[in-house]
Amino acid sequence: MNTHKVIFDTDPGVDDALALYYLIRHPQIQLLGVTTVFGNAPVTLTTRNARFLLRSWGADVPVHAGAAAAITPDMPDESFPVHIHGENGMGDIDIPDAPVEEADTAAQFIIDQVRAHPGKVRILAVGRMTNLARALQIDPEIADLVGDVVIMGGAFRVAGNITPAAEANIWGDPLAADRVFGADWHVTAIPLDLTTRTMIGRRELQALADKGGEGMQLVADLSQDYIGFYAQSGYDGMVIHDCCAAVFLTDPDLFRLTHGQVRVLWQGIALGLTIMNPQDRKGPMGAWDDLPVQAYASDGDVDQIIARIGEICTAVNG
Ligand code: BDR
Ligand code: CA
Repeated sequence: MNTHKVIFDTDPGVDDALALYYLIRHPQIQLLGVTTVFGNAPVTLTTRNARFLLRSWGADVPVHAGAAAAITPDMPDESFPVHIHGENGMGDIDIPDAPVEEADTAAQFIIDQVRAHPGKVRILAVGRMTNLARALQIDPEIADLVGDVVIMGGAFRVAGNITPAAEANIWGDPLAADRVFGADWHVTAIPLDLTTRTMIGRRELQALADKGGEGMQLVADLSQDYIGFYAQSGYDGMVIHDCCAAVFLTDPDLFRLTHGQVRVLWQGIALGLTIMNPQDRKGPMGAWDDLPVQAYASDGDVDQIIARIGEICTAVNG
């Protein structure tokens, strides 16, 4: 069986938690480590949350704390999305552990793993791209040595979820995202264009928990307030952005990709806007000149993606 060596860069985060559960249970995924970043909560909390989840699920995976702030200059003040992910980033379920103040070792961990397994490491990044941009800055040669990079982020042909222009993970550190898209490695973005169509209904989630046992019940428990957030917009369920991106690792055939060079605006009113130069476009390239061709998922088989998540998260032997 083909096994994928994966580093999961994340800001748990409710939909991050489902993605992490999916990754640790997937028989074809070897999770080399989890790197954390600020985003859905401060990094002291996202790191604590990652450790709490892994311990609760009995998964022995190293966790490395990462960036506490963006590298983008003059960022607007950011408040954490407590109305979506809760004050503690985990839907305000009880978590006994305190927030953790740790040295920022995420970028170096990424570098070390990529150098230890040249051409093999796949990075799945579902938070701000700050740790990836810092790893590139410290050791630019890793771009050549990475298997590929899959990110949850961007809004290419749809409106953003933070501003009309921008999706949260890109908006939160747009210069980092611009560097990640501009580096000479393969990036596939799974953006809002697709992820907002991947929803798990409230009853469907409970059915997965009933079938999947304690581990999946924890996911259901911490997702209740998140479901409440979507209920305000008339939905009876939750969008599973990050887990949708995780499915791409082993099931790329479920996704339709559009290719081109990508720039991210990191100044001005459209901060965080992701703009692709489509490959069939003729004309001057301007600021898109000489950049690598990357991809984003413009469509996908939503039913199959959801079904895949259900299978993996409830399989008896994980
Ligand atoms: C992304 O932002 C975060 O709130 C979610 O965890 C997801 O990664 C969606 O825009
Ligand atoms: Ca996330």
